[in-house]
Amino acid sequence: MPDARPTDVGIEALFVDLPRQFLDLGTLARANGVDPEKYYFGLGGRRMAVPAPDEDPVVLASNAARGVLAAGGVAPTRVGLVVVGTESAVDGSKPIAAWVHRAADLPSDCRVFDVQHACYGGTAALGIALDWIASRARPGRKALVIATDVARYEIGSPGEPTQGGGAVALLVGDEPRVVRFEDHPEAVHAEEVADFWRPTYRSTAVVDGSYSLECYLRALDGCWGRFRRDTGRRFSEFEHLLFHAPFPKMAFKAHRRLFEAAARAGELPSGAEPGADFERRVLPTLWANAEVGNAYTASLYLSLAGLLENDAVDAAGARLGLFAYGSGSCAEFLAARVGDDAAAWRGRTGLRQALRERRELSHAEYLQFRAHGEELSRNGTLRVPTRSTGPAFCGTWEHRRVYRDEALAVPGSSSQPLGRDGRSAR
Ligand code: HMG
Repeated sequence: MPDARPTDVGIEALFVDLPRQFLDLGTLARANGVDPEKYYFGLGGRRMAVPAPDEDPVVLASNAARGVLAAGGVAPTRVGLVVVGTESAVDGSKPIAAWVHRAADLPSDCRVFDVQHACYGGTAALGIALDWIASRARPGRKALVIATDVARYEIGSPGEPTQGGGAVALLVGDEPRVVRFEDHPEAVHAEEVADFWRPTYRSTAVVDGSYSLECYLRALDGCWGRFRRDTGRRFSEFEHLLFHAPFPKMAFKAHRRLFEAAARAGELPSGAEPGADFERRVLPTLWANAEVGNAYTASLYLSLAGLLENDAVDAAGARLGLFAYGSGSCAEFLAARVGDDAAAWRGRTGLRQALRERRELSHAEYLQFRAHGEELSRNGTLRVPTRSTGPAFCGTWEHRRVYRDEALAVPGSSSQPLGRDGRSAR
C-alpha cells in the first residue's frame, strides 16, 4: 500500500438522476399557511423534488449508475468496486449496491456494498473508492460510487420544505478529468449527537431543527480547524466552496462562519465583504440544490454537478473546498481541483435533462403521492407505476422487491417487472 494517495485520483465522470416531479415551495407554503418568502428567502429553496412511489432510491441509483458509465465511455466490465452511500436503505440486509450491480450489468468479479452515516455516507463511499484506486488493488479497474436518497419529513413540520431526493453517480479512477482530490491529511470531525435521525419504525426523519444547525456548524469548525492547522491553507485560496446543503441557506451560514473566522485571523484580502464573497464563490454551486431540496448523501455532489453545469462560470482548474456533514455526526473537509475540460461536462451530467423532464405537482397530488408511499412502505403494494422509461419499483412479491427494467427483462417482455431470478415476475 502506498503511504498516501497519488495526486491523480478522483472523479472521471458524474451523472445525476432525479425524481420526475416537483412541488413549488410557494405552493407548499400557501397550503401550510406560511409566508412563501420564508421558504424562498428564509431557507433559500425554490422547489423540492417529490419521488413517485415507483422512484425509490434503487431506481434513482440504477439510472445514475447507467448514466455515468455512458457519460464516462466506460464498459461495465471495467468496474471492480461499487459503493453506495445512502441513509434510505430499502432492506435491512440487501444493499442497494446489489441491485445497481445487476441494473448496470456489472461483472461478477466486483465488490459491492452500501455504507451509511446520514448525509456523510456519500463522502464515506467516495473515500473508500479513492483509497481503493490508490491502492492499485485492481489495476485498470474503476470504482462506481453512488449517493442516493429520499428526504422525507412529517407533513406540516418545519423540515417539510427541505424535502427532496435524487442520486449522483461518480466514476472514480486514476484519470480524474472532472475533479482530482488533493493529497492532504484527513480533516474530519465526529461526535455522537441527536440532531437528526430516522428510526427504523418510521418513514419520516425526526429532527431537532436549530440544534442540527448548531451541530453542523460545530463540525465545520472542527474540520476546518484541522485542515487549516495541518495544511496551512487559507479560506481565500479556494475559487469555490461547496457545503452540504440540506437547504441553500445552510451553505450561506457555513460560508459566513468560515468568513468570520478568516476575518478574525486577519487572512482576508482587504475590502473582502461576506455577501459578495458568498455570491462569487458559493452561490454558483447552489442552483440545483434550490431546485431539488435535500438529497442527503447526494446533496454535496449535486452542488458539484450544478457548478459544472453553470453556464455563467468557467470552473476549469478551479480549486474547490468541499464540506460534507452527516447528522449523528461525522463530517469532513476535502480539497480538490476541477479538471481542465470542465466546460465539456455542460449538458452531460444528466442534471439539466432530469430537471427538464420534471412535472409540477399540485399540493393535492403531492399529498396523494405521500399517502401512496406510506401505504407502500406498510404493505408493499404499488397501485400504478408512474415512471414511463427505465427501471421502476413495482411493489413486492413474496416479500421480494420487484423492479421493471427494460435492460434486464427477457426479450419481448419489456414492460414486465423483474422477479426472483431477475427475469419477468409475471
Ligand atoms: P423553522 O423553525 O421553520 O424556521 O426551521 P426558522 O423560524 O428558523 O426560519 C428559518 C429562516 O427563515 C430564518 O432565517 C428566518 O428568519 C427566516 P435565519 O434566521 O436562519 O437566517 N424567515 C423568513 N424569511 C423571509 N420572510 C419570512 C420569514 N420567516 C422566517 N416571512 C429548519 C428551519 C432548518 C430548522 C427546519 O427547516 C428543519 O428542521 N429542517 C431539517 C433539518 C435540517 O435541515 N438541518 C440542517 C443541519 S443538519 C444537516 O444538514 C443534516 C441533514 O441533511 C441530515 C443528514 O445528515 O442525513 C438534515
